[in-house]
Amino acid sequence: MSTVDFDPSLLGTKDHWDQRYSEELAHFYESGLEGEAWFGDEPVLKMVEWALTHLPPTACPNVLDVGTGNGHLLFAMVDAGYDASRLTGIDYSRGSVDLSIAIAKQRDVQDEGKYTYANVTFAVCDFLDPASSIRRPSADVDEVRTETNDGIWDLVLDKGTFDAMSLMDEDERGTVSLERYVPRVVRLLRSGGHFLITSCNFTKDELIQRIATRGSGLEYKGSIPYKTFTFGGKSGSSYATVAFQKQSVS
Ligand SMILES: C[S@@+](CC[C@H](N)C(=O)[O-])C[C@H]1O[C@@H](n2cnc3c(N)ncnc32)[C@H](O)[C@@H]1O
Repeated sequence: MSTVDFDPSLLGTKDHWDQRYSEELAHFYESGLEGEAWFGDEPVLKMVEWALTHLPPTACPNVLDVGTGNGHLLFAMVDAGYDASRLTGIDYSRGSVDLSIAIAKQRDVQDEGKYTYANVTFAVCDFLDPASSIRRPSADVDEVRTETNDGIWDLVLDKGTFDAMSLMDEDERGTVSLERYVPRVVRLLRSGGHFLITSCNFTKDELIQRIATRGSGLEYKGSIPYKTFTFGGKSGSSYATVAFQKQSVS
């Protein structure tokens, strides 16, 4: 996999996300507003619907959200009936984690102190570069544990994070690149576990081509349809959600 699919952009830098979440956190403390869902509400609803069909709350799945932002995807999973103590969000920006924890606490207060959302675990981790996580300092995603989880996940979610990573400059990480992404997802999933990703940079076919490569250990399971639009004689949708499954080791 190459990191040169797109020209590098600010969205591929940690400084950008640190600045953004520091502003969002300040805004949250001033106004109580949680901020927006990246790509809007539709992909959130569709990703949760997919999970309800394939890994319902009764299966008690352990779920990891990579690049969790303001945590809203995991809060939507809680709303859908998933056990919050089995949900974990990681992000390399401490501001994202602080914001997610603050939102969870506010929601619990509004929920008359039921402490539902605050049971979601949030941790500062660099998904691609554990060594830099340790320097910053934060946890390596391999070491993130919850009461119910030994570091192996039934479902890994990504909404917009692979997109942001694909905008990294080669220089930002030196030798560390997007090539680490798929092997890390595979290592974190249990055999037969699922990976569900939403992207606006890559089409469904481009995601399959990059993720379900020969020998990657992930196979294509299906995709979620969105309304399509036609422009200049070409039709497509503005984002793609694709599901993969880790092949079982026989
Ligand atoms: C486009 S935002 C999406 C946020 C969230 N998933 C959503 O849907 O709103 C990308 C997120 O990925 C995080 N991120 C980017 N590179 C990362 C990395 N190497 N490790 C962990 N998080 C990362 C950013 O801090 C940011 O929160």
